[in-house]
Amino acid sequence: MGDWKRYYTEHLTTAAEAVARIQSGDRVAVGHACGEPSFLVDALVANAAAYENVEIVHMVAMGKADYCRPEYARHFRHNALFAGGSTREAINSGRADFTPCFFSEAPALFSSTLPLDVALVMVAPPNEHGMCSLGVSVDYTYEAVKQAKLVIAQVNREMPFTLGGSLIPVGDVDCFVPYDAPVIQLPPPQIGPVERAIGENIASLVRDGDTLQLGIGAIPDAVLSFLKGKHDLGIHSEMFSDGVVELVEAGVITNARKTLHPGKSVATFLMGTRRLYNYVDHNPDVFMAPVDYVNDPRIIAQNDNLVSINSCVQVDLMGQVNSESIGPRQISGVGGQVDFVRGAAMSRGGRSIIAMPSTVKGKTSKIVPLLDSGSAVTTSRCDVDYVVTEYGVAHLKGASLRHRAAALISIAHPDFRAELQEYARSRFDCNN
Ligand code: COA
Repeated sequence: MGDWKRYYTEHLTTAAEAVARIQSGDRVAVGHACGEPSFLVDALVANAAAYENVEIVHMVAMGKADYCRPEYARHFRHNALFAGGSTREAINSGRADFTPCFFSEAPALFSSTLPLDVALVMVAPPNEHGMCSLGVSVDYTYEAVKQAKLVIAQVNREMPFTLGGSLIPVGDVDCFVPYDAPVIQLPPPQIGPVERAIGENIASLVRDGDTLQLGIGAIPDAVLSFLKGKHDLGIHSEMFSDGVVELVEAGVITNARKTLHPGKSVATFLMGTRRLYNYVDHNPDVFMAPVDYVNDPRIIAQNDNLVSINSCVQVDLMGQVNSESIGPRQISGVGGQVDFVRGAAMSRGGRSIIAMPSTVKGKTSKIVPLLDSGSAVTTSRCDVDYVVTEYGVAHLKGASLRHRAAALISIAHPDFRAELQEYARSRFDCNN
């Protein structure tokens, strides 16, 4: 764009004026996870009386999600691609919708079944070439900017200016709302004896030179602290957190042996503390890109020795993995889990790991004969590869149902092994 500074100045506005352009019945996508433009979402909610039936499409909602509150039911309806802490109750009580989808396919929805009227996003201020950065959330947010008829951006000097495929020209934005505020942070996970044992078991499956994907939740992030003895690890991950910064500084993550984007850590969104956000700011060693690139299993597979590490809610004795619901109650979503499980399966030397504590707070087993009624199957029994608990590693790919059951029972909590064995015997022992 020729005179981008003039364009930018002419399109500066206030949050109240910008959200007043949204109309009843519009579909609005909100910038993802820690990239949520909280100031704009607050302005939208404050203007609720002006709208009826505004659909809000969002994935990992890390903000307050006030638009889900019962008193706004006539004004807003949330359509969640992933359930988060602030949206679970609305989804499970029927006030909000849940749309299952692979993260890699979310951007394509905006040009097919979920065409967008409005995108509310957050950007770092434009650079000298008139390019804004989508900072910590490029994922579907990039495509939302490209597809929405009205793009409203909170311009926040606290948003890190990330590089790669995260840049959009100022001309893509219709309304700029300058407002500085801390970017939402995710504190590092608590690491106790169970996480330590899981981390050590996973470390036994990771080799020098591997490229890692780390999923969402406490376990995948905790694992990093047990990889300090490895060399030349790489990152091609849907997201990463502070743990990666620590391993880069320790010289463990070098990305030197990566077969795709060597020398760079690749991600589509970031969740962590200010330490992470300072690290990625203007950092040419970090390559951020939209999720339909980063999570495309065919792109993932171009990394040799890709190891994906994700967590789950329950695994049954056939190796079916539920990572998103407790019975029929939706607590998260598929996210990028299956994108990476499949990408890892296609990667030369690749492996995928589902890691979890063996019990829910010591009370019930997460390894079960059958998934709870109403559960989603996130990773199918044909896709599953390794399952890890604090008691060991079960390798399921290529194993018969009988052998899978035995392998999973061997890594279940000892208190539950007898009843799991009883079920396995009744199912597989021809003398029964
Ligand atoms: N039965 C009953 N409750 C269970 C349960 C089970 N088998 N397993 C977990 N829970 C409960 C926990 O007790 C916890 O409840 P609380 O919030 O009341 O404490 C809640 O479910 C969340 O479980 P927790 O283990 O604390 O979650 P986490 O932060 O470690 O995340 C997943 C685990 C599975 C929810 C998370 O990894 C996920 O969403 N995965 C799917 C998406 C994905 O893998 N994406 C990968 C690329 S980013």
